[in-house]
Amino acid sequence: MDKCYKIGVIPGDGIGPEVVAEGIKVLNAVSKVFNIKLEFTYYPYGGEHYLKTKELLPDEAIEAFKGLDAIYFGAIGHPDVKPGILEHGILLKIRQSLDQYINLRPVKLYPGIDCPLKDKGPEDIDFVVIRENTEGLYVGAGGFLKYGTKDEIAIQTSINTYKGIERCIRYAFEYCKKRNKMKKVTLCGKSNVLTYASGLWVRVFEEVANDYPDVETDYAHVDAICMWMVKNPERFDVIVTDNMFGDIITDLGAVLQGGLGVAAGGNINPKGVSMFEPIGGSAPKYQGKGVANPLAAILAAQIMLENFGEDKAAKAIENGVIHAVRKLKGMSAGKMGYSTSEVGSLVAEYIETNK
Ligand code: IPM
Ligand code: MN
Repeated sequence: MDKCYKIGVIPGDGIGPEVVAEGIKVLNAVSKVFNIKLEFTYYPYGGEHYLKTKELLPDEAIEAFKGLDAIYFGAIGHPDVKPGILEHGILLKIRQSLDQYINLRPVKLYPGIDCPLKDKGPEDIDFVVIRENTEGLYVGAGGFLKYGTKDEIAIQTSINTYKGIERCIRYAFEYCKKRNKMKKVTLCGKSNVLTYASGLWVRVFEEVANDYPDVETDYAHVDAICMWMVKNPERFDVIVTDNMFGDIITDLGAVLQGGLGVAAGGNINPKGVSMFEPIGGSAPKYQGKGVANPLAAILAAQIMLENFGEDKAAKAIENGVIHAVRKLKGMSAGKMGYSTSEVGSLVAEYIETNK
């Protein structure tokens, strides 16, 4: 019997449901064309659900997720919910509980998309950021002393473990080998100041690099990485970094590839259940207007299929996206010249007619 992929869908808040619907449209198209069986189970978690029920993400849901092949995630963030509650209670909880220790974020400029960098084009902007996704400043280690007084002290500790760093860096080298482009891994840190945390990253990087003699290694501080990403993005192939630096540099990366409307990523547990999402967020001001760009969500579906090893289907989605971007006037919400659903149809129809 053919394999059937069980996919949990969390459309979430804001534009999440609209863009996820287009991703599903495209997944249904590849399912037909490539004879891949997909089974979708929808979950209601997000800001609306929280406001109605006070429930964020119950532990039973995490248990149910463990029986899936992947999670397809839209966005969370609600104007009526205090910042941090949904992020910690839903998104970060999934990343942590399913040990999705890699956040894979390709930064690729497709032909036809305006690049904000002068004299740079698709041949210059094609790299991948591998962000550690379960440790660092994101573990929530810390606290307040003398809260609410003028003597207040706030402590937020970055947790960096040998094992956590090692598995992330090893994934980056393996990914780089498989990608087979420049065969170069750049470590992004801040070893001149964060001597303990970045110090450990540098030592583990050097140790793991010994196992990959064919891969070139490079190190740059995170501030310099920001400069190089704008000045000479072509110097990067695979960048590996910690959770916080990875969060920051991938928003910069998103802008280089045409904006948050086209930037996607995967929260990956190589031996467990991974989650794929557009990285743009819920953008509540565009909710329900049909103007959000669904390409990021569609590319998240592409990364999901790549992760399943369904390379042909993944490639077909990418080709569909390349076809669609040539028709779009712009990539940001409301500037595409097409509605959200029309963009999804452009990709889906291309896949169905170009088998
Ligand atoms: C991201 C987001 C999240 C993060 C937020 C929503 C917690 O910015 O996926 O990059 O910081 O990881
Ligand atoms: Mn972010």
